[in-house]
Amino acid sequence: MDKQESRSQKPTFDKPILGEPILKTDKLCKSFGALTAVKNVNLEVRPGQIVGLLGPNGAGKSTTIKMLSTLLKPTSGSARLAGYDIVKNPFQIRQHIGIIFQDSTLDNRLTGRENLEFHCMIYKVPRPERQPRIEEMLVMVDLTEAADRPVKTYSGGMRRRLEIARGLLHHPSILFLDEPTVGLDPQTRATIWTYVERLVQEYGMGVLMTTHYMEEAEHCQNIAIMDQGTIIAEGSPAGLKSEMDGDRIHLLTENDAKAKTWLEENWDVTVSQGKEGLDFTLPQGETHLAQLLASLPVAVHRLSVRQPTLEDVFLKLTGRRIRNEESGTHERLKFSARRKGRLK
Ligand SMILES: Nc1ncnc2c1ncn2[C@@H]1O[C@H](COP(=O)(O)OP(=O)(O)OP(=O)(O)O)[C@@H](O)[C@H]1O
Ligand SMILES: [Mg+2]
Repeated sequence: MDKQESRSQKPTFDKPILGEPILKTDKLCKSFGALTAVKNVNLEVRPGQIVGLLGPNGAGKSTTIKMLSTLLKPTSGSARLAGYDIVKNPFQIRQHIGIIFQDSTLDNRLTGRENLEFHCMIYKVPRPERQPRIEEMLVMVDLTEAADRPVKTYSGGMRRRLEIARGLLHHPSILFLDEPTVGLDPQTRATIWTYVERLVQEYGMGVLMTTHYMEEAEHCQNIAIMDQGTIIAEGSPAGLKSEMDGDRIHLLTENDAKAKTWLEENWDVTVSQGKEGLDFTLPQGETHLAQLLASLPVAVHRLSVRQPTLEDVFLKLTGRRIRNEESGTHERLKFSARRKGRLK
């Protein structure tokens, strides 16, 4: 095949042998002084697979991504990516990965196109291939029209899309997305996901992403739930939820304490009591709920029944919520302040 012909074709991303993991970690650990931020993490990502690291603030998600992208050295353990060791072969690793960091790393004074050209230069993309690749990526993320405007005039969603395009310019085997949609509105989040899923399908790339948005984790084929540096559960979203073994029932009664005791004694369920009422999991809820309500010795003021979510899985495993409204607001403020250069 001559050069001209190869250029006119769709890029052939460096695809590892199908089925073999692109990334495999073995008891990866990272300590900062006395703090163990990542503890014995075992992860695998295969071609065409989206794997999610889901966990609350400080769980160790970014630290894991930073080790895998050679920005931090593991304290112990190891990881192989595209056949290379992350500590022994950092240069080769960097050629095989695309990273979208938690915080934007675009140069606001440059245009979108100039940011992409700069990336091609750093990654030594062969000169004749630079313009065709840049054009292709701009089309893919719908930024052709805005390409010659300075990035400082872009919206949050446009910046993220430009970062995704940039992360892909050197045709990585695996893409790391650290909180790719934090601070973005739900519609833009959905658009970003459309791009990521299309990329995975078209190029067979592997994706390792972090998030603390439950609904985003649903895009992953496999999820590792992380808490305090450790992976506490792993599986497909459906598989993890099926372990909840029942429907989630929420009750507000005239006497929650009495109802809790009665439920635990008569129905063998573990009930958590909050200000807003009682929560518990009832196996085969649709079949048993009517019978339960009919025999409950106190009046019910409010009732809701729903399928379990990943939030429930986390709550069951840790006794805590992965995220509450205040931390959501805090995160958005933190992100917006960082973008304005007020926070480091
Ligand atoms: N360079 C560092 N020096 C010391 N401690 C660090 C450093 N980087 C991270 N940590 C600590 O390691 C822990 C894990 O941090 P990390 O950034 O990996 O969490 P995260 O899961 O990405 O959280 P978030 O959802 O807030 O992004 C935290 O307690 C954090 O304070
Ligand atoms: Mg992080």
